[in-house]
Amino acid sequence: MLLRDFFIQLSENQLLNSAAKKYGLKLGAQSVVAGTNIEETIASIKDLNAHNISCTVDNLGEFVANEEEATKAKEQILAVIEAIHENGVDAHISLKPSQLGLDIDVDFCYDNLYEIVEKAAAYDIFVNFDMENYGRLQTSFDMVEELSKTFNNVGTVIQSYFYRAKDDIEKFKNYRLRIVKGAYKEPADVAFQDKLDIDLNFIELIEYHLLHGKFTSIATHDHNVIAHVKRFVADNNIPLEKFEFQMLYGFRTDMQKELAKEGYNFCVYVPFGEDWYGYFMRRLAERPQNLNLVTKQVFTK
Ligand code: FDA
Repeated sequence: MLLRDFFIQLSENQLLNSAAKKYGLKLGAQSVVAGTNIEETIASIKDLNAHNISCTVDNLGEFVANEEEATKAKEQILAVIEAIHENGVDAHISLKPSQLGLDIDVDFCYDNLYEIVEKAAAYDIFVNFDMENYGRLQTSFDMVEELSKTFNNVGTVIQSYFYRAKDDIEKFKNYRLRIVKGAYKEPADVAFQDKLDIDLNFIELIEYHLLHGKFTSIATHDHNVIAHVKRFVADNNIPLEKFEFQMLYGFRTDMQKELAKEGYNFCVYVPFGEDWYGYFMRRLAERPQNLNLVTKQVFTK
C-alpha cells in the first residue's frame, strides 16, 4: 500500500512529468508505451492485429493547463483517427476528458470532444471515455450522455472501487462499457479501500453487464477474474460477440495472445506519446513488480 501511494504521488508530480518529456521513452517505459508518434503506434497496432487482437489507442497527456495544450491534444487525436481510417487497422480511441480541457472550461472541453466523436463517427470508429478521479466523474458521465444523444459511437468506463458504480452501471447499461477495478487513490467516503471488496464488486458489475448490458469490455490482468468470466459466460450462454477482454500494452502479452487464440475477442489498450511519465508511474503503483522493467532497462543499457 505504501509503495502504491508513493508511485501515485510521483505520478502527480508536474516537475518530474515535464522533465520526463524531455528525455523520450526511458526508465523501461518503452515496454508499456507503444511509441512516441503515430507512425510507430500504427506499426504496433498492425503487429497486434496480426494476432487477431484489436486496439484502443490513447494519446498520453497529463496536466493540461491551458486551451492551447488541450487543442494540441485534440489535433493529435483527430490525426490518430485519420491514421486508423487510412491504414484500415482494427482500432478505436480511448481518451481522457481532462486532456481535452475538462479542468479549464467544461464547454470548451465538450466542443473538443464533440469534434473528435463526430469525426470518429464518420469513419465508424468507437470512442471510449476513460474515467479519471472522482472529482471529474460526474461531469465526464454527463458529457458522455449528452454526446450519445447525437452519436452512437460513445462508451465509457465503470470503476468498481466506487460505491456508486452499481447505480452507474444500471444507468449506462445500454452503452458499451469497460469495467475496471479503478486506478486512482480515492477516499473512503466514496470508494472501497479493501482489495477484496473491490474485487467482489468488480465481479458483480461484470456479471450484471454481461447479462443485462450492451457490450462488456472486461479490462484486467487478473487471471482469477478472467477464469471466472470464462466460466460465467459458458454457464450463461453469453455469446462471444457480447464481450471482450482488455489488457494494457506490454502486460501479460503471452496471455493476451492465448486468449485471442482461444477465440475470445481481445483488445489491447495502446498508449502512445511523449507524455508517458504519469501513465508509467500509475502502472508501477498498481504492480511494483513492474519495477523489473526499470531495473532491466538500467542493466541492459
Ligand atoms: P490487479 O492489479 O488487481 O492484480 C490482480 C492479480 O493479477 C495480481 O495479484 C497478480 O496475481 C495478477 N497480475 C496483475 N498484473 C499482472 C502482471 N502484469 N503480470 C502477472 N500477473 C499479474 N482505471 C481507471 O481508473 N480508469 C480507466 O479508464 C482505466 N482503464 C483501463 C483500461 C485497461 C485496458 C486496463 C487493463 C486497465 C484500466 N484501468 C483503468 C486500470 C484498472 O483500474 C486497474 O488499476 C488495473 O487494471 C490493475 O488491476 P487488475 O484488474 O489488472 O489486477
